[in-house]
Amino acid sequence: MSQVSEPQVRDALRMVVDPVAGRDIVSAGYVSGIEIHAGEVAFQLQFRPESADYLKQLQEQCAQVLGAIPGVERVTVNMSGNPQQQAEPLIPGVKKVIAVASGKGGVGKSTTTMNLALALQQLGAKVGILDADIYGPSLPRMMGVHGIPRMEAEKGQKVTPMEKYGVKIMSMGFFMPEDTPMIWRGPMVGMAVEQLLRDIDWGELDYLVIDLPPGTGDAQLTLTQKVPLSGVVIVSTPQDVALADVRKGINMFKKVEVPVLGIIENMSYYLCTECGHRAEIFSHGGAEKEAANSGMTFLGHIPISEDIRKDSDAGKPIVVARPDSPQAQQYLEIARNVVSKLQDGAGAPKMPKIVIE
Ligand SMILES: Nc1ncnc2c1ncn2[C@@H]1O[C@H](COP(=O)(O)OP(=O)(O)OP(=O)(O)O)[C@@H](O)[C@H]1O
Ligand SMILES: [Mg+2]
Repeated sequence: MSQVSEPQVRDALRMVVDPVAGRDIVSAGYVSGIEIHAGEVAFQLQFRPESADYLKQLQEQCAQVLGAIPGVERVTVNMSGNPQQQAEPLIPGVKKVIAVASGKGGVGKSTTTMNLALALQQLGAKVGILDADIYGPSLPRMMGVHGIPRMEAEKGQKVTPMEKYGVKIMSMGFFMPEDTPMIWRGPMVGMAVEQLLRDIDWGELDYLVIDLPPGTGDAQLTLTQKVPLSGVVIVSTPQDVALADVRKGINMFKKVEVPVLGIIENMSYYLCTECGHRAEIFSHGGAEKEAANSGMTFLGHIPISEDIRKDSDAGKPIVVARPDSPQAQQYLEIARNVVSKLQDGAGAPKMPKIVIE
């Protein structure tokens, strides 16, 4: 098999013309980071928002011209730029979109999402919560919000989010009965979330916090590809199993170039409501170590606490129910860390890269 060289790749790509720039993509400076490993060629293709309509065509042409080089077996085009967002903002008026993810279910993602959102609001921000967990939308219940959101003709048929404790909230749970079978929910994920974003009048928001479905499979990937995310926050429990899943999650987000803002350890230690005693039931601190090992920011830990659960069950999250409690203060601390992480520049909204083969 002949060895493929970088000049060969460059020359081939000169045959691809960007119709908007009116010149080939190499001389327009859109090609960078060419990597060649055996028969695999990968490179970065930058595009301008005006070229959004031609993207697919450009990608296909790249694959075609490179595929014609003897020895090339696989082509990966990593797109950089943000056509969708610049050409047509999916969520106008929303400054930062933060997703909350977890490697597995039941680690307290929804509890963390809403308390983090409420803590951001207490810091003075305008905040919305999107419950994108189509498999188990629990935020309406945990936030104590009921009813069906209104669609307003004068707002171009856009749906007005519900509002509680000073934050806006939207959930698929408002539109489907709790006993809707899983089998119907699955295919709705991508479609429903896109609609939830596009057809909702969020107004002006500093932060939209999204509760993603648990796990890091296809559904989460689809979501992250449809939303211009400023960053993702990962919730984990201290147990090792959860941490292995966290690693998977971090890798997935890295792959699609969504910045991971950091890790939160939930149910980190037991905080006795009666006496305030703190017991380290699991080997607490695992997430902190994992964060350090993988160069991630550790955003903070939340204890296991009966009050946290009771307040969620009662539809009044602890950050608003007991704002002076140490638990609420922890959430505020985490919110401050998230804000400062976003200010570090991690938060420039990014669409994930598209890989075609
Ligand atoms: N720090 C905590 N202390 C005590 N209970 C908690 C804590 N965090 C979450 N819980 C409780 O654990 C249960 C699961 O939490 P939650 O629903 O937030 O998890 P989840 O990761 O969103 O789950 P799912 O995967 O089902 O969406 C709930 O009953 C919640 O009240
Ligand atoms: Mg949940």
